[in-house]
Amino acid sequence: MNNYQASAPGKIILFGEHAVVYQRPAIAIPVHQVQAMATIRPRETGNPTGVWLEAPQINMQSFLDLNSDHPLAILLRLLAEAIHLPDYPNIDIHLSSTIPLASGMGSGAAISVAIIRALLGYLDASLPVEQVNSLAYQIEKKYHGTPSGIDNTVITYEQPIYFVRGTPFQKLHLGQEFTLIIADSGLPSTTLEVVADVRRGWQEEPEFFEEIFDQIGSISTDARQIIEHGPVEALGPLMNANQAALRKLGVSSPKLDYLIDAALFAGAYGAKLSGGGRGGNIIALVEKKRAEEISAALQQAGAKNIIITTETPVSIPNNYGKPILR
Ligand code: PMV
Repeated sequence: MNNYQASAPGKIILFGEHAVVYQRPAIAIPVHQVQAMATIRPRETGNPTGVWLEAPQINMQSFLDLNSDHPLAILLRLLAEAIHLPDYPNIDIHLSSTIPLASGMGSGAAISVAIIRALLGYLDASLPVEQVNSLAYQIEKKYHGTPSGIDNTVITYEQPIYFVRGTPFQKLHLGQEFTLIIADSGLPSTTLEVVADVRRGWQEEPEFFEEIFDQIGSISTDARQIIEHGPVEALGPLMNANQAALRKLGVSSPKLDYLIDAALFAGAYGAKLSGGGRGGNIIALVEKKRAEEISAALQQAGAKNIIITTETPVSIPNNYGKPILR
């Protein structure tokens, strides 16, 4: 058997996080500068047998008990079922990722998608992309409890998407290019906990929370028009309005607010947190030629890692991260 390697990108949510869990629309884009990578190799010795998992970034080096409820064991079981594979051959799975962990960039979903793609390549099997997406969603439920499904969808399809939970996603066609700075606060955040806090708030004060979700939903709808038809600068005020609503939901934090203020002060059109919140990343919409200068201001304000990305209307033909032979 040959080695197989496959990757999947990170992602950011441009508009609509949290409200998307409550069926309001949200917008997300893939971030190809960061990737999760899975490599499958045959285990030559055959003894001991099984699936060996190596993920140095999370200090994991062990056999995977395929009957356990470890999310990756569940992923392998579901995949085997989907492709009618009675048993896995003896293999090593090596995982690596440049997507920061617990920072709202979809590292969990990207790992799942990269593993599925690499195993399909290794086993010479195939699945429709919808099924890859649905397998990744099953694992998201293990990590997040009640995920909307936006992370696995944007990562599987690797396209900008307009997403409403429980309905088929829509591809977004960009009318104009735009530049974003993604700045990591360096604070890890657990989406599961923040989503649970929002749920508690919603249960205690349903009317207040529903109103904010509605506001966020209509911001996403307005943003879609602008992304598709321009002018992109008009996304700035919508990002600021989305951030104000997220603050009311209680999912921002002093550090995120500080970075957002620093980006705005340095001249960004708009800025907001992205993903679950409390920690993780902020995003700022900027004029392309000012990206370096605003990044420097963010670094000075304490951002730990910065990505500058320019989204262009020219769509890259997508092969959904087909695995490659190594
Ligand atoms: O923190 P992330 O990148 O997993 O994003 C979570 C987005 C939420 O809307 C808060 C949850 C969800 O499942 O959509």
